[in-house]
Amino acid sequence: MASTEHDAAVDRVRVQLLPSVAGAPLDSLQQLVVDSRWNQTIEDWALFLRAGSVYAASDADAGIVASGAVLPMDALPASAMPSGEAASVAWISMILVKPSWRGRGLGRRVFERCLRHVQTEGRVAMLDATPAGEALYRSFGFQVLGRLTRWRREARVADGVAAGPAQGTLDRLLALDAEALGFDRARVLRGLSERPGSRVVTADHAAALVRAGRTARQLGPMLASSDEGAAQLLARVAEFDASALLIDVPDDRPSMQRTLEVCGFRPERPFARMALAAAGRELPVGNTQLIHAIAGPEYA
Ligand SMILES: CC(C)(COP(=O)(O)OP(=O)(O)OC[C@H]1O[C@@H](n2cnc3c(N)ncnc32)[C@H](O)[C@@H]1OP(=O)(O)O)[C@@H](O)C(=O)NCCC(=O)NCCS
Repeated sequence: MASTEHDAAVDRVRVQLLPSVAGAPLDSLQQLVVDSRWNQTIEDWALFLRAGSVYAASDADAGIVASGAVLPMDALPASAMPSGEAASVAWISMILVKPSWRGRGLGRRVFERCLRHVQTEGRVAMLDATPAGEALYRSFGFQVLGRLTRWRREARVADGVAAGPAQGTLDRLLALDAEALGFDRARVLRGLSERPGSRVVTADHAAALVRAGRTARQLGPMLASSDEGAAQLLARVAEFDASALLIDVPDDRPSMQRTLEVCGFRPERPFARMALAAAGRELPVGNTQLIHAIAGPEYA
C-alpha cells in the first residue's frame, strides 16, 4: 500500500476500550502477540480484560491492528510503607502494533489512551519496555528505573534424574512479592498460579512461580534474599524442567547470570523498567534487591 493511502487508513482506525472478556476478540488480540513473537497466551488477555482494561485499535477491513492494556495494582496498607504513604500504581503493557501498520503513529495513539486511563485514576504509570517502546515512552517523560535481560533456553531431552525443586506456598511468594515491589499484586499472581501447569517452587530463602507461555514456560517472579539462593533455585528448575524456559532477570545479578549461562540460557532481548513520576504521586518503595526475576514485562 502506498504511504499516503496507508496514512488515510490509519486516520480511519478507531481506538476503543474493549468492554469485557465476554465476546472479546481474543484470537485477533493474540495474533498481535504471535506477529511480534511474544510469549503471552489467550489466558493473559482474559486476565487483562477481567482485572484491568484493554484498548484495541481497529480498522474496518484489517480488524484489530494495535493494542494496549492497563492493569491496576492494589495498594499496600500505608502503615506497611516506609514512607507511611501507599503508592497507587498501574502497569501498562501489551503495546503492540501489527507489523505492516508500524511507524504511522498507532503505537503512540494507543499508548496515549492507556496513559490517560492511568492518570485519570490518579495512579503512577509503570511498565517494562522493549528498546522500540523505550523510545516512545521517553517522549512522554518516562524514566528508566533499571534494566533487565530476557534469557531463553530451548527445550532439551529430559534425562529424568534431577530431583525437582520443592513445592512452595503461594502465601510465602505473595509476602515476598509485596515487600519487593511496594504494592500488592496478589490478584494477578493468584490468577497465574491457578492455571494448569503452574507451580510455585522454593529453595532456601527463595521462591518462584513457573507458568505456561505461548513459546516457552516462564519462570518468574523469583524472589530471594540472596543472588546465590536465587541461582540455586534457578538451577533446580532448569535441571528438572526440560521444556523451553524464559526468564527476565535484572542485569545486576552476577550469580544468576553465571547460572543462566551454565544451564544453557542465552540472552534474547533487553527490557527497561520505567515509571512516569508525577507531582503529588509517590513511586512505590519496595525492596528491589529481592527481585531476581520479574513475572514478565506485562505483569511487573
Ligand atoms: C513499539 C511499537 C508499539 C511502536 O508502534 P508504532 O506504531 O510503530 O509507533 P509510532 O509510529 O506511533 O511511533 C512512536 C514512536 O516510537 C518510536 N519507535 C517506534 N518504532 C521504533 C523502533 N523500531 N526503534 C526506535 N524507536 C521506535 C519512535 O520514538 C516514534 O517516535 P516519533 O513519533 O517521534 O517518530 C511497535 O513497533 C511494535 O509493536 N513493536 C513490537 C512490540 C513492542 O516492542 N512493543 C513495545 C512494548 S514496550
